[in-house]
Amino acid sequence: MAEKKFYITTPIYYPSANFHIGHCYTTVIADAIARYKKQHGYDVYFLTGSDEHGLKIQKKALESGVTPQEYVDKIIKDAKDLWKSLKIDYDKFIRTTDDYHVQTVSKIFNKLYEQGDIYKGEYKGLYCTPCESFWTETQLIDGKCPDCLREVSEVKEEAYFFKLSKYQDRLVEYIESHPDFIQPTSRKNEMINNFIKPGLEDLCVSRTSFNWGIPVSFDTKHVVYVWIDALSNYISALGYLSEDDSLFKKFWPADLHIVGKEIVRFHTIIWPALLMALDLPLPKQIFGHGWLVINGGKISKSLGNYKDPRDYIKDYGVDAIRYYLLSEVPFGSDGTFSEELLITRYNTDLANTLGNLVNRTLSMLTKYFDGVIVNSAAETEFDTDLKNVVLKTNELVNNYMDKLEIPEALDSIFNIFRRCNKYIDETMPWQLAKEENKDKLKKVLYNLLEAIRIGAILLSPFLPDTATEILRQLNTSFKTISTISKFGELEEGISINDFKPIFMRVELKNE
Ligand code: ME8
Ligand code: MG
Repeated sequence: MAEKKFYITTPIYYPSANFHIGHCYTTVIADAIARYKKQHGYDVYFLTGSDEHGLKIQKKALESGVTPQEYVDKIIKDAKDLWKSLKIDYDKFIRTTDDYHVQTVSKIFNKLYEQGDIYKGEYKGLYCTPCESFWTETQLIDGKCPDCLREVSEVKEEAYFFKLSKYQDRLVEYIESHPDFIQPTSRKNEMINNFIKPGLEDLCVSRTSFNWGIPVSFDTKHVVYVWIDALSNYISALGYLSEDDSLFKKFWPADLHIVGKEIVRFHTIIWPALLMALDLPLPKQIFGHGWLVINGGKISKSLGNYKDPRDYIKDYGVDAIRYYLLSEVPFGSDGTFSEELLITRYNTDLANTLGNLVNRTLSMLTKYFDGVIVNSAAETEFDTDLKNVVLKTNELVNNYMDKLEIPEALDSIFNIFRRCNKYIDETMPWQLAKEENKDKLKKVLYNLLEAIRIGAILLSPFLPDTATEILRQLNTSFKTISTISKFGELEEGISINDFKPIFMRVELKNE
């Protein structure tokens, strides 16, 4: 049997500004998928990191009066702290300033040059000297620089080019014969019709106008174009072209590159062409997700329309944020982020549906049975349906996760908790207590606890802290999802641990 491995990546982030909730979106989703796969017995490698070269970063550093390296070091330290507070369990954090990456990119560039896929040419364009920006004819306003409205001049700059055009036909053929390669399908059609079929031009892959980048080793006034540098991270992280390439041999090709919609183009055109030139297999899937928007607009540092994600974590807890990011937006579409919506979802789903259920159930167990987990042979007419809902959920989640329908997967887990709440209304345990129907009461509480236990395990890739806390309160050990097979494995006779509400309701602030 083929080894079950799963290599998943996020984009590597530009440390050009502080990270916001939009960046957390990609990373939390990748983390949930990675945890899910791990629990299903896959050998998972989850890569994230930072994309640290380029003019943008060089300029930012200059503005802050520090070296580019000092500038990125500070932001990366903070980024790692953010990922930690979001419980992102990555296997590797790659920085494009890491030595091994720099060496690999250099080797890739040399190899492509030696085999003729990269050649020296001349970059012709229009240039605004005060702005240090290249423009195309159509971008000009009245023939002038669209930024400062001054004269532009025609420049010719020596540059290296990658023979992207050579790969056009193979690329179209590949994309069309691998329907899962670009997802969602709408993005695939956009790439083929709007970008590839109109014709691919060779790509300029070196720059001489700034130096914060990886030098071309045989022509050091050039630095490697930042996208060639950045995309290569997915293989340099695994040791490609290095002394120890065992991870590369094991994990490449990637199973899933998750990227935002605006960079699907780079991942589905430049990246596969580069891999073809290197004679490497292509990733199995590139999934282009939508954006989180605030008040209809993109989250933006310059607009100052967002808080540090850690402020939300401090106020509502990490799983409130994870829950929102994983459940609010159909994966692939754009979605809204607002603190009001976050609070509403928190109160409705986490505090009411889940938190209350656990707390009510454990309170009843304490009141009626001194907190000892009980069971009996009695039955109620509602048991079968409850058990069916619980037992079919694992498969439902699997089906949704195969299609990366994450909100749907989470909703089916919450359906267990909703079904439990209904079961309480149906069986009325307080009535059974009044009637001294101890056997039925035992059964009802047992069924609730077992449903909660299985629900918590299913929830664990998405909300790891919540799952751990529920299982701790139940005084039961954590088992992986792959062990769920039947209803009734919760042990009797064990006393529950001290318990408290997992989620306290939050009042909406009227500002
Ligand atoms: O693009 N909603 O880095 P980046 C959802 N360095 N996703 C968002 C978002 C939002 N509001 N804002 C940003 C780069 N993102 C390159 C990647 S990969 C070889 C190089 C997502 O820091 C964005 O869509 O600008 C992208 O996928 C990721 O954050 C990193 O963006
Ligand atoms: Mg971007």
